[in-house]
Amino acid sequence: MNFQIIGTGSSHPACVKTNDDLAKLVDTSDEWITTRTGIRSRYISTGETLADLSCDAAQKALENAGVTPQELDLIICSTIRGDYMTPSLACIVQQRIGATCPAFDLNAACSGFVYSLDVAAGFFSRGTVKKVLIISAEMMSKMVDWNDRATCVLFGDGAGAAVLAEGDHLLSCKLTAQGDTELLYIPHVNGNSPFHDWPDEHPFLFMNGQGVYKFAVAAMERDVLDVVKQAGLTLDDITYLLPHQANLRIIETGRKKLGLSPEQVLTNIDKHGNISSACIPTLLDEQNRQGTFHKGDILVLCAFGGGLTTGACVLKW
Ligand code: ACO
Repeated sequence: MNFQIIGTGSSHPACVKTNDDLAKLVDTSDEWITTRTGIRSRYISTGETLADLSCDAAQKALENAGVTPQELDLIICSTIRGDYMTPSLACIVQQRIGATCPAFDLNAACSGFVYSLDVAAGFFSRGTVKKVLIISAEMMSKMVDWNDRATCVLFGDGAGAAVLAEGDHLLSCKLTAQGDTELLYIPHVNGNSPFHDWPDEHPFLFMNGQGVYKFAVAAMERDVLDVVKQAGLTLDDITYLLPHQANLRIIETGRKKLGLSPEQVLTNIDKHGNISSACIPTLLDEQNRQGTFHKGDILVLCAFGGGLTTGACVLKW
């Protein structure tokens, strides 16, 4: 016994920033960003908090599922950084939507949604939950250096959510971690202790783009092959692949290596950019609401990112 997804939701800030908008801030161009990444615009918060976006996504998912907040047995939020260090984002959402269940945050960077699904599967298999809400919410605009053209153009803000109920639709799942503080990191604010001689750190996201690129392409191919095999299926059985939306070139390279058709690989990076763990649930919700999925479809989710972490799974719709 694990789960089935019975509802999805997503939310993003109102403000859209196009590549041309960013070209007024840093030395870049629509042509560079589009050809290197596939990104055309992204949503950037001008005041919405992560709790605002998370509650909106959660309420849409609950409505889609026909589940009330009081029915929830667990809320998991995946986020690199909530609005507060404590309380967790999950606790704030729990209070604001009127739920009473346990709630906690999980940080696996871009792989957070898949990590959360696997954690939830554990609760279902122990029989301790019947309805679980997962929200992945990220505000990358607070963590990038808006003077650094190599990173600020890549990311966006948003939240995606899914409501899970008892079922057997998780056919396989694989999580990996390969601890690394060189290729991708975001430092903490260090406080002002007079007793510590903290080194001065650039307090923004650092990414070795080419290093992460190689890691991502290798992980995508390896993990998709592994979870499909683990599920007792072949690549021919995949209806749709929902990859992490970091870079269209990574997705295209992975797609070709796996021999999938462009129609099988779903993307929304053009209008969202990289919203870290919120990418996959946002894509899932958009496609769900467009009526893309049919009962029995085989969906493969595949994520990679900071940690370095990866997470992939096979779901029956
Ligand atoms: N506009 C114009 N020029 C730029 C920009 C920009 N926005 N950014 C970088 N450049 C320049 C560089 O300065 C460099 O110039 P130079 O040749 O004169 O030195 C040139 O473009 C090439 O830069 P590269 O970094 O080599 O560009 P690359 O083709 O590797 O693309 C990118 C960079 C898009 C970041 C790519 O490496 C990538 O997608 N990496 C993977 C990112 C990823 O997967 N992240 C996932 C995890 S994110 C997370 O977990 C939070």
